[in-house]
Amino acid sequence: MTKPETNLFTPHRLQGLELRNRFIRSATLEGLCGVDGRATAALIDLYRQLAAGGGGLLISGITYVAEEGRLIPTGLGAASDAQLAGLEKLAVAVHQEGGSFCLQLGHAGGQGQSKVCGRQPLAPSATKLEQYPEMPQEMTLAEIEGTVAAFAAAAGRAKQAGCDAVQLHAAHGYLINQFLSPLTNQRQDAYGGDLAARSRFLLEIVSAVQQTVGCDFPLLVKLNASDNLAGGLDIDESLVVAKLLDAAGIAAIEISSGTPASGDQLPIRLGHESGAEMAYNVVLSRTIKQQVNCPVIAVGGIRSLHVATGLLRTKQADYVSLSRPLIREPDLPNRLQSGASEKSTCISCNGCLKTMLRGNFCCVVP
Ligand SMILES: Cc1cc2nc3c(=O)[nH]c(=O)nc-3n(C[C@H](O)[C@H](O)[C@H](O)COP(=O)(O)O)c2cc1C
Repeated sequence: MTKPETNLFTPHRLQGLELRNRFIRSATLEGLCGVDGRATAALIDLYRQLAAGGGGLLISGITYVAEEGRLIPTGLGAASDAQLAGLEKLAVAVHQEGGSFCLQLGHAGGQGQSKVCGRQPLAPSATKLEQYPEMPQEMTLAEIEGTVAAFAAAAGRAKQAGCDAVQLHAAHGYLINQFLSPLTNQRQDAYGGDLAARSRFLLEIVSAVQQTVGCDFPLLVKLNASDNLAGGLDIDESLVVAKLLDAAGIAAIEISSGTPASGDQLPIRLGHESGAEMAYNVVLSRTIKQQVNCPVIAVGGIRSLHVATGLLRTKQADYVSLSRPLIREPDLPNRLQSGASEKSTCISCNGCLKTMLRGNFCCVVP
């Protein structure tokens, strides 16, 4: 038995938000929307199923804040009021099953493709890198200002729709991460150069979101603690960013790593042939947890009750977050809590990622 204070299934308060447990469904792009970016019945059903499966906080897949920030043609949007009603239905479905709903807000930046985002992709600097499908355009100051405002407006829509929290996607090589990383940000103005300048975009978004939704509305950030790339953001710099976010009053920080150019150290890492548990970002999340006051969420390769509760008990994390296992078994939290299983049967093969991109969101392992 785990001690009550470290029990994964004990209710916990995240800022003002009462969560039924510390089990988080990490943001997972499903590709189940139409080109209008509105939530479909299939997406709403999926969230109802996930909430019925017992997770405490369900984080949506990356939700675009502006048309030019779209990553795939079938992603969810919070870029216009026309998308509000769908967001509301998602929040209602999750609430009806006792869960809490967080909308992840993001912008693909240089990882976008013009055929999806409708223009030459935007990025901090016009540099063609391995993780960029096309040569991006360096953002003007007006475009930076407009994008900060778009994040704030999207957060406002999330709150209006009844979501319980928002998370900024500052990881995996997307736009906010591109500003933070010295590899992708070669700007010579106030948004590039030293770490303080590279953090400016993120901190302006945090401040604009807080002004829009209020400081008591939980604002989470998913941060790359390392890009796992030579010359990219590393743990020393991300630690400083984490402290700045903590000082700004965010509700929690989820620690991830990697970009699509990070070889075998991707954000969504392939499993070993044995399917052995990796919990591959834990060294990073532990390092950050030791230095910040806000709760820290561990994500990446966590597969068993034993490891999840161990992370909480040893104070290496305050919450655990899982993605691929819940594609395979949406009711995994309930199964772990009831003792019906001790471990996910997900083998981290990334078949789900490939089928999602082809429009069929599911686990491919029989
Ligand atoms: C199909 C799929 C879609 C994903 N989409 C997102 C996303 O939209 N935003 C995000 O931050 N992470 C996304 N991720 C990454 C997960 O949130 C998580 O960080 C990663 O998969 C590691 O956790 P896991 O080992 O439990 O799967 C996605 C992962 C998968 C498999």
